[in-house]
Amino acid sequence: MKMILLRRFRVLILMVFLIACSMHIMIDLLPKLESHGNSGCSCPHTPSEQPQSWGKQGWPNKHTLRILQDFSSDPGSNVSSHSLERSPVTVDRAQALGGMEQRADRKRQFIHDATRSKPTKGSRLSVLFEHPLYKKSPPPLTDEDTLFTVNTDIRFDPKAAEDEAWMGEGTVDESSPAGELKAESYPNWLRFHIGINRYELYSRHNLVINALLKDLVTQRITSVAMKSGGTQLKLIMTFQNYGQALFKPMKRTRDQETPPDFFYFSDFERHNSEIAAFHLDKILDFRRVPPIAGRLVNMTKEIRDVTRDKKLWRTFFISPANNVCFYGECTYYCSTEHALCGKPDQIEGSVAAFLPDLALAKRKTWKNPWRRSYHKRKKAEWEVDPDYCEEVKQTPPYDRGRRLLDIMDMTIFDFLMGNMDRHHYETFEKFGNETFVLHLDNGRGFGRHSHDEMSILVPLTQCCRVRKSTHLRLQLLAKEEYKLSVLMAESMERDRLTPILIQPHLDALDRRLHLTLNVLSECIEKEGYSSVVEDDLQENPETDHAHTGSRQR
Ligand SMILES: *[C@@H]1O[C@H](CO)[C@@H](O)[C@H](O)[C@H]1NC(C)=O
Ligand SMILES: *[C@@H]1O[C@H](CO)[C@@H](O)[C@H](O)[C@H]1NC(C)=O
Ligand SMILES: *[C@@H]1O[C@H](CO)[C@@H](O)[C@H](O)[C@H]1NC(C)=O
Repeated sequence: MKMILLRRFRVLILMVFLIACSMHIMIDLLPKLESHGNSGCSCPHTPSEQPQSWGKQGWPNKHTLRILQDFSSDPGSNVSSHSLERSPVTVDRAQALGGMEQRADRKRQFIHDATRSKPTKGSRLSVLFEHPLYKKSPPPLTDEDTLFTVNTDIRFDPKAAEDEAWMGEGTVDESSPAGELKAESYPNWLRFHIGINRYELYSRHNLVINALLKDLVTQRITSVAMKSGGTQLKLIMTFQNYGQALFKPMKRTRDQETPPDFFYFSDFERHNSEIAAFHLDKILDFRRVPPIAGRLVNMTKEIRDVTRDKKLWRTFFISPANNVCFYGECTYYCSTEHALCGKPDQIEGSVAAFLPDLALAKRKTWKNPWRRSYHKRKKAEWEVDPDYCEEVKQTPPYDRGRRLLDIMDMTIFDFLMGNMDRHHYETFEKFGNETFVLHLDNGRGFGRHSHDEMSILVPLTQCCRVRKSTHLRLQLLAKEEYKLSVLMAESMERDRLTPILIQPHLDALDRRLHLTLNVLSECIEKEGYSSVVEDDLQENPETDHAHTGSRQR
């Protein structure tokens, strides 16, 4: 009897011990092992610095983590480090990048490159912007044509107005005529908002935009919140001068192509696509993308320490490689496995200037008539009906005015980037139907440089319509002495995170531009020049904003 009890007691002790052991393994050891194998934290941020810095931490490079293998067909690619060498960078930029030991190697390379190829004074970009095609100005603006009437619609928080820091560090150092307009003293983000009109988001040679781009990168971040509703994590940043911006952290390195078997809607958004889209839109002279710049953010100081969002704050952790990581809350991809990690505490991202608050300037959201089905098997109507455009042309607001031509512009813009994700677009409600369409949310471009997705051009092939100004600009950009890829590289060189695109993506832009021009040539051959090309360049005020609403000065 005693023996049995003793034996039972032993068995019990053994059981307890075993349970304790397995609990320990499950709770403590497994996550560590898992994060070694799995965590997105070790995703290399700048491909070029991958070998050195990770080697230093004794982290085998080939473990560049399952997350990369999951999403990239070619994780160990070296392309971008090559492209880095090709891209000439000013000394200025190299200095801006300095101060980070981790980047020392890269910095040396930048300085080296800078001495080799100095930026030419007469840049191609400034030659382009001097071309007559880039000189057309919008018609005189009435109160109906501007988003805000200064001094009536805009009101400030009096608390903000008293604040010394209100004007911010980044205000433009322009020589403004003394006592001219109070607007001169407004922060740049507000001046950007005030400048929005029926025809454009910002004007061509707007110094405020350059100053705003600088603000986006240099303004102190005073608070951070998560943007609700998105499938992927985005942060709303508020600056010292009360400006706000949308931050999309880097989730893909520049050389990771979207795998061919991926659906367009399942790839991550790319921060560099957002930045490149701003430059492309500007070079195409649409000016329908809000100012966006690249910024290196200190995750501890500029996100964790300034957020009032407990839910966000709680998701911060230190990875096994001693990097700061967080994952936030969103519908997909917000978990330890998909954490965003710094290096060790710095993370790249795109910072997009906010448009005016919806309470001040309502926007209308429209379904793109050529949106995809967002279904693995279903096809959209436009995919099966070759005469789909005829139907669209009879449906308001595409039956008159500028809207259809704007959709054609947007189609070309998206095809050049390879963006298949344009399901909706927006306009400012105040301007009714006769206004430009905003090109927001461009994070799904520049996913694949080795493939040209012709289906994106379907609206153009089906409708065979284009603005004359757009057509002429495309032809200009295809010329060897201008060359879209070179202009893009030059424009993006001004960004803090340059190079924004690797060379294969730049080459793809040139290739796709030619494909677009071919489609238009075929259209003209088939239907005749005058029925394809809408002449928006005539000095003809009667057409007013029935067409593009612009005329030559
Ligand atoms: C990357 O480049 C380095 C040096 O140029 C080379 O040693 C290495 O094998 C390359 N890796 C891959 C995956 O191509
Ligand atoms: C980021 O901020 C933290 C906290 O202020 C600081 O300790 C750290 O040195 C910063 N990192 C860099 C790279 O500046
Ligand atoms: C604007 O477009 C809508 C179609 O959504 C249409 O109902 C409306 O009549 C249009 N407005 C004008 C002024 O044409």
